[in-house]
Amino acid sequence: MTDRPADRRPQPPGVKRLYIETHGCQMNVYDSERMRDVLRPLGFVQTDAPEGADLVILNTCHIREKATEKVFSQLGRLKQEKDRRRAAGGDMTIAVAGCVAQAQGEEIARRAPAVDLIVGPQSYHHLPELIARSARAKGAALETAFTPEEKFDALADLASGRAAESVSAFVSVQEGCDKFCTFCVVPYTRGAEYSRPAEAVLAETRALVARGVREIVFIGQNVNAYHGGMSLAGLIRAAAEIPGVARIRYTTSHPNEMSDDLIAAHGDVEALTPFLHLPVQSGSSRILTAMNRKHDAAAYLRIVEKLRAARRDIALSSDFIVGFPGEREREFEETLALVREVGFAQAFSFKYSRRPGTPAAAMPGQVDEDAASERLQRLQALLRTQQRTFNDAQIGRRLPVLVDGPGRHPGQMHGRSPYLQAVHFEGGADLVGAVTWLEITGASLNSLSGATSEKALA
Ligand code: 5AD
Ligand code: SF4
Repeated sequence: MTDRPADRRPQPPGVKRLYIETHGCQMNVYDSERMRDVLRPLGFVQTDAPEGADLVILNTCHIREKATEKVFSQLGRLKQEKDRRRAAGGDMTIAVAGCVAQAQGEEIARRAPAVDLIVGPQSYHHLPELIARSARAKGAALETAFTPEEKFDALADLASGRAAESVSAFVSVQEGCDKFCTFCVVPYTRGAEYSRPAEAVLAETRALVARGVREIVFIGQNVNAYHGGMSLAGLIRAAAEIPGVARIRYTTSHPNEMSDDLIAAHGDVEALTPFLHLPVQSGSSRILTAMNRKHDAAAYLRIVEKLRAARRDIALSSDFIVGFPGEREREFEETLALVREVGFAQAFSFKYSRRPGTPAAAMPGQVDEDAASERLQRLQALLRTQQRTFNDAQIGRRLPVLVDGPGRHPGQMHGRSPYLQAVHFEGGADLVGAVTWLEITGASLNSLSGATSEKALA
């Protein structure tokens, strides 16, 4: 699976090696950390390759067909490793977690008999008992119940005890989706919207800050639909009051949930970064209707206008799907027009992937693969140009950079601008966790270089 050498160093008694491979979105990244938390008391320590691991967990993504198919090829390779280990008198437990486990758990059990356990995103707190069950069971142990409330309760205590691994941390505030965009599997894999109570979110935030975290990223599939006793704007304002919180971000948002209150927070909460990921998917109102987005292109543009009125320097990022059923050249050009009008600092764009069971999969006018590829190339060329223009525009500006660790070369440090751009500069390791003002001296498509003011002047 990897080119890394197997980790076969002798281990102290009771220590078991855990390898988790994470695919997909920020929710999966967060969940993988929580799985590590749950397994730590059982003696599991993290390792960075499947070879030599006692337990391998694939945390999977179901959003596009390619990602889903990859799971089965990975399982084939893991089976070979497991067979090798058994031949040598050892063993390896294989677990599939995440959205593919949720959506296709039974198919995995049938097609990949080497899998020992299958666990959906709402059931990670059951991992210890599932591991025990899988050791006894003949087939794979399977758990895919929807119990977000139970999951958050069970994982919250563990989260508060965890060490800060970086200056920035995700805090999950909401899970699931009730929007039912016609292309999307999320409402089926993650279930209905559930908001975690604000007190629990703020307690986790305080615990992280006490351990050195400076940036809090509130995450949820529909994060701005948050309603855990207060709105997301309320939560942001409360988090900004916690001493030590330098930056707050949130992702991923739906345009229809950009309330006036939340837009206003961009104007008056200093810690809230002037950067927002706001997926639009298409610039064609006809396609947006077919996607069941429940807003048109003009409504998106109005939100952007309001955001810019609240915070002049706000930069935007987005998601786009090209080749949605019924998209013709005309509709695609409307997407290009919207991109030109908004001017994005950064964006993700995808070819539509037909997902069985979603309404769009059965729609007429499925777009030919070559046409979709050609449109994706054109869209990405435009988005790349905008990203480069945005990065170039930072040259000569002074920006506050949150320093998060060493850079690639000795003496170099790495940090993030308020717009999430990677910034490299020469500085000391003692700066980790500090927000330092740098003069931006260079830009490329994916990063900036900066210098402390004295160096920039020299
Ligand atoms: N095909 C292609 N892209 C998709 N996304 C979601 N579902 C699909 C699909 N069926 C994209 C959307 C979403 C992002 C996370 O993934 O752009 O915002
Ligand atoms: Fe993928 Fe969606 Fe699941 Fe995240 S929630 S892992 S994007 S299918």
